[in-house]
Amino acid sequence: MSAAPGPVDAQTVLRSVPLFSSLSKSQIRTMATTAKERSYRDGDTIVKQGEKGIGFYLILGGRARVEKAGQKLADLGPGQFFGEMALLDELPRTADVKAQGAVKCLVLSPWEFWAAVGNEPEVLRTLLKETVRRLRSGAAGLSE
Ligand code: CMP
Repeated sequence: MSAAPGPVDAQTVLRSVPLFSSLSKSQIRTMATTAKERSYRDGDTIVKQGEKGIGFYLILGGRARVEKAGQKLADLGPGQFFGEMALLDELPRTADVKAQGAVKCLVLSPWEFWAAVGNEPEVLRTLLKETVRRLRSGAAGLSE
C-alpha cells in the first residue's frame, strides 16, 4: 500500500528550492513562519496582469501557468517562484498567473521578502538571473 501524500511542509520545500540554497536553516525557518500559505483552485487567477501587485509567490504544490493576452509564456511548478518583477520594479504585474489544478503557494510581502533576502547576494543573483531569462524569453510580448 502506498502512503498518501502528506501535507506540504513549507520548510521542507523551502530547503529544496535552488533560489534559497544559500540560506541557513534558521533563515528558512523564519521565512516559513512569517510568510502566508495560500491555496488556489483550478483556473483561479493568482496574479493579474496590470494590477498593482505586491508579494512574492513560491509554489509549494501544484502547477501555475504564466499567460499574457491569453498566450502561454511558461508553466511553473513546485519550488519555482513568480511575482518577482512587480516586487523589484514596483510597477503593475507583467502577466497573469493562473492555477492549473489545485495550487498551494507561500506568499511573502515585500517587507518579508527584503527582510529575508535583502542582504543575501547569492539569492539576489539567482533571482536576477532567472528574471533576466524570463524577460529574454518573453521579450516579444513585453514591448508594449
Ligand atoms: P510579475 O510581473 O510581478 O507578475 C507576473 C509574473 O509572471 C511575473 O512577475 C513573473 O514572475 C512571471 N513572468 C512574467 N513573464 C514571464 C516569462 N516570460 N516566463 C516566466 N515567468 C514570467
